[in-house]
Parts: sequence; C-alpha cells; structure tokens
Amino acid sequence: MSAKKGLNLTLKIWRQKNNKSKGQFEVYKISDVSPDSSFLEMLDMLNEQLVNENLEPIAFDHDCREGICGMCSLYINGRPHGPDTGITTCQLHMRMFKDGETITIEPWRSAAFPVIKDLVVDRSAFDRIMAAGGFISVNTSGNTTDANAILVPKDDADKAMDAAACIGCGACVATCKNGSAMLFVGAKVSQYALLPQGRVEAKRRVLNMVKAMDEEGFGNCSNTGACEVECPKGISLENIARMNREYLSAFVDKG
Ligand code: SF4
Ligand code: FES
Repeated sequence: MSAKKGLNLTLKIWRQKNNKSKGQFEVYKISDVSPDSSFLEMLDMLNEQLVNENLEPIAFDHDCREGICGMCSLYINGRPHGPDTGITTCQLHMRMFKDGETITIEPWRSAAFPVIKDLVVDRSAFDRIMAAGGFISVNTSGNTTDANAILVPKDDADKAMDAAACIGCGACVATCKNGSAMLFVGAKVSQYALLPQGRVEAKRRVLNMVKAMDEEGFGNCSNTGACEVECPKGISLENIARMNREYLSAFVDKG
C-alpha cells in the first residue's frame, strides 16, 4: 500500500508582538504535512522550520492536546477550532484540508479576550467569573456529609454532568457576533444549580457570576445559537435559559 501523500499548504497567520501593537497577517508555506497529523503538530512543524531559518516561532496556546483543557483557542478558516464539529483544535486532523489549500489562522476575536501575542489570547476573564461564584462551600471540619448520602434524581445528575463538560475554551464567545459569554456562564451556573449541593449558594452564585460577566465586557445574548453550534462539548442553549430563570428568581428574592 502506498504511503499517504503529504499536503502542501499556504498558511495565513495572525502575528502580533504584544497587546499594544497592531497585528497583521503573514504568509508561510509548509510542505509534506501528513494528513494524519493534528493541526497543532502541523504548527509545531512550521515552528521548527521558522527556528531553523532564525525566525521567531508563532506563539499559540495548548496544554493537554486531547480536548480537555480548552487552551487551543484558534480561529481557523473563519470558525473556532476549524472546519470539523464537536472537537477542539488539538483534535483537528490535517485530513480535513486539501492539498494546495490556503488556511487562515487567527486568535479568538473578542474585546474581553485581548491578544497577548500572535495567536494567544488572555482568557482570565473566565477565571474571574469562576472566582465570583463557580464553586460550592463545604464544611471540611470533619462533619462533612458523604456526597453519596444525598440522593440526586438521575435526570438532574445527567444534566449537571452535561453542563460540567464545558472546558472553558471560549469558542462560544469567539463565534458570537455580540461576544457573549452566556453559554459558558450558563453551563457553570447550571452544573451547580441542578444539584442539591449547589442549591445552598445558588442565588448568590448566579447574581455574582452574571455581575462579573457584565463587568468583564462580554456582550449580550441575542439568541443566534452560534455558540451551541461551535461548542466542542455540545453545551446546550438550555443552560442559558436555566441561568436566566435562576437569575430572575434570585433578583426578585433580593428585592
Ligand atoms: S460552553 Fe462550550 S464553547 Fe463555551 S467555553 Fe464551554 S466548552 Fe467552550
Ligand atoms: S490543548 Fe487542551 S483542549 Fe486542546
């Protein structure tokens, strides 16, 4: 059996020195890329090529390279995480591209995610939203109730687990024309609101997380649904509706 033919590609990549400078696209050629390699491996190849030519390698974020950490935030040919669906950039394979193709690679574009360098953006706005309420407080003095002693309806447990699948990648924000973070915050609010352990602080949590989201400069949701389409973890819009219900009830109770 003959070996698969390597791809020859043109890469149009966003280069930006730091968050103060104006960026621009630069064009690179790369040859003989295995269709079985991942997108990040292809960028590794390009960076090796650049280093060998005494040029500065391209900065891009990555960590787990298996769809768990949410770091690999790249906009590829106009879509977050590229042309495949239900995957992160690190799970994208070069077989999704054609020989001779030009691939455009950009960082997430959102006012709340400023570019730090090249393809790396600052997503610490998500961390601050989580710090505002994305946790439960547990008494660890020794009198803690065993979590398994609290019965949870199967349907609620399943929905909480589905919401907890959010990896905080930010694709929902990047693809939204309003730069809204409602899918992310909706998932984080829901994963606790659906469980008895999360009900104790539910009202305070939703008020604080929504306030933090607004302060970080994310836009409003106008129900276009692009976030759900591009989410690599299939987070449902139902989570936004649940967050809105939680918020309304907490707001009314606050008086
Ligand atoms: S909701 Fe989906 S797209 Fe948004 S941060 Fe979570 S995993 Fe990423
Ligand atoms: S590098 Fe962790 S999800 Fe892609």
